[in-house]
Amino acid sequence: MAIEFIDEAPTLEEYKEMRRAVNFMVLSDRIASNALNNAYHITTVRDNGRAIGMIRVLSDGSYANFITDVMVIPEYQGRGIGTQMMQRTMDFMKSTLLPGETIVLYLMSAIGREPFYKKFGFKTRPNEVWGAGMSQWLTRKD
Ligand SMILES: CC(C)(COP(=O)(O)OP(=O)(O)OC[C@H]1O[C@@H](n2cnc3c(N)ncnc32)[C@H](O)[C@@H]1OP(=O)(O)O)[C@@H](O)C(=O)NCCC(=O)NCCS
Repeated sequence: MAIEFIDEAPTLEEYKEMRRAVNFMVLSDRIASNALNNAYHITTVRDNGRAIGMIRVLSDGSYANFITDVMVIPEYQGRGIGTQMMQRTMDFMKSTLLPGETIVLYLMSAIGREPFYKKFGFKTRPNEVWGAGMSQWLTRKD
């Protein structure tokens, strides 16, 4: 195994294949390629060239940052790859800061994955300080 962490987007086909492998929602090609092209920071994990995991950050380039598409395909899960992807992303985000500066990182955990993210300092919501994180699917039906 030659696992590499490369700070570049996967191809559209690789992205769709990884999403399929972890049962994420199927996206249209237009939505999927915009998602790759407009992300702030993407790491793709490759094993001998094959895309086997990825993580993306969406950002205003400064204060507000959203971590999404955290995925490792099933045959590679449980080997520490997800942890390394998260750690590298946290390190990258920290590298954007000057001494004393603070920014916010958001993410939406899948059910049951909360302990994975807690290890990196994320807090579940709602809690005694913050209200719930909220979201919806938005579909144009015509
Ligand atoms: C979540 C995910 C990215 C973790 O990647 P990974 O490479 O398997 O993670 P690691 O091997 O680094 O394991 C990290 C920790 O998560 C735990 N973990 C891994 N897979 C898990 C799972 N399916 N359910 C619960 N915990 C899990 C491991 O036990 C490990 O805990 P430890 O550090 O206390 O031993 C990966 O399982 C995945 O892609 N899942 C499907 C897609 C998904 O749900 N993504 C998250 C969306 S919010």
